[in-house]
Amino acid sequence: MTLSTTEILARTEEILTAHDGLEGPLLPILHAIQAQFGYVPRDTLPVIAKRLNLSKAEVHGVMSFYHDFREDPAGRHILKLCRAEACQSMGGDRVAAHAQKALGIEWHETTRDGQVTLEPIFCLGLCACAPAAMIDGKLVGRVDEARLDTIIAGVR
Ligand code: FES
Repeated sequence: MTLSTTEILARTEEILTAHDGLEGPLLPILHAIQAQFGYVPRDTLPVIAKRLNLSKAEVHGVMSFYHDFREDPAGRHILKLCRAEACQSMGGDRVAAHAQKALGIEWHETTRDGQVTLEPIFCLGLCACAPAAMIDGKLVGRVDEARLDTIIAGVR
């Protein structure tokens, strides 16, 4: 379902009002907006900034600092690859390069068909089975190129 800008802004106003008076409201507001829309639409940034008496750049800076916030809608499936040390030492870089090549996208991008969004993540708690990945919230360990191809084939 695609929402119009008017609907997005109306819901954003409701979220902002629900957070009125909260100390340090920016992160909770961004989380609430992402929970509502699946991403943080660009049109909401000036509205958030105005309500919190911040600059648009400040809001955008916080958003881009935390990798959990998306600026665009995600694909139908989200593939996260661990980029932390244990996974890197077990070939995580090679697997990541393979994923980017196989999907034809970089980090935080979504395939043209809208099926897969690729995201880096820093430790999935599965270090003993490195390299680790997560597909739609499901953990997968010992990911090599072949296993990654199977994961991708399963969601395309
Ligand atoms: S370092 Fe990758 S799961 Fe912990």
